[in-house]
Amino acid sequence: MTRIPIVGGNWKKHLDLQGGLGLASGLRNRIGSHRATQVVVYPPYPLLHPVFAKLRDSAIRVGAQDLHPGPEGAYTGAVSAKMLRSVGCTSVLVGHSERRSVFGDSDHLVAEKLSAALDAGLDPVLCVGETLDERQASRTFEVLARQLEVALSGRRAADLGRLVLAYEPVWAIGTGVTATPEQAQEVHAWIRGRIGSLFGPAFAGGLRIQYGGSVKPGNAAGLITQADIDGALVGGASLDAASFVGIVHACSRG
Ligand code: 13P
Repeated sequence: MTRIPIVGGNWKKHLDLQGGLGLASGLRNRIGSHRATQVVVYPPYPLLHPVFAKLRDSAIRVGAQDLHPGPEGAYTGAVSAKMLRSVGCTSVLVGHSERRSVFGDSDHLVAEKLSAALDAGLDPVLCVGETLDERQASRTFEVLARQLEVALSGRRAADLGRLVLAYEPVWAIGTGVTATPEQAQEVHAWIRGRIGSLFGPAFAGGLRIQYGGSVKPGNAAGLITQADIDGALVGGASLDAASFVGIVHACSRG
């Protein structure tokens, strides 16, 4: 089954309006018509609409780093899926490890956010990954099973056509230590197998699974050539147009 590679640039809490627009212009000029890889950038909330306007009519899509579940209401500081749609987002990250560890997002809250994204017609990127302690205690697959099963409980394959997964081992995020292609492939293959047992092999075979954690232009090709790695979710290296473009090109198959 052919899966179009997908590369995301998670800008996290970086860049102001001027910096974000400069980066968006650089990307538009270099990969604005690139279609061999699906490219999505995830600016901070205040930059979403200006960056969307800058990238309008290009092949680069815009997504949000998080959302609040449920409709509008008295939730100071929160942003709904409908608001994200209205400013041009087509995608949203759900369950990023920084949301889980810094902001306390539980597996159940992640499931609610995933539902809100799907209901609004956004493409959710469900992020999963183990910490260093969990890996060293040989608990990687147990942790991933729980994260996947709680987030996807009660779902049918027919609901999940927009879903993308991202495997981001916490020990590789922002540390400069990336998983080796073999380590990442082992986990990606396991995730695809688990998804296959939950939703059937046809669904699992079409599902894209990004790898995230210290992806750089120099290590992206080794990761993307693995059978079950379908792209990258990039943090630090997405803040520089040249390095992000290098990763996008490295991830373009064929
Ligand atoms: P780094 O690429 O900076 O390690 O961040 C990865 C990440 O968290 C992407 O969501």
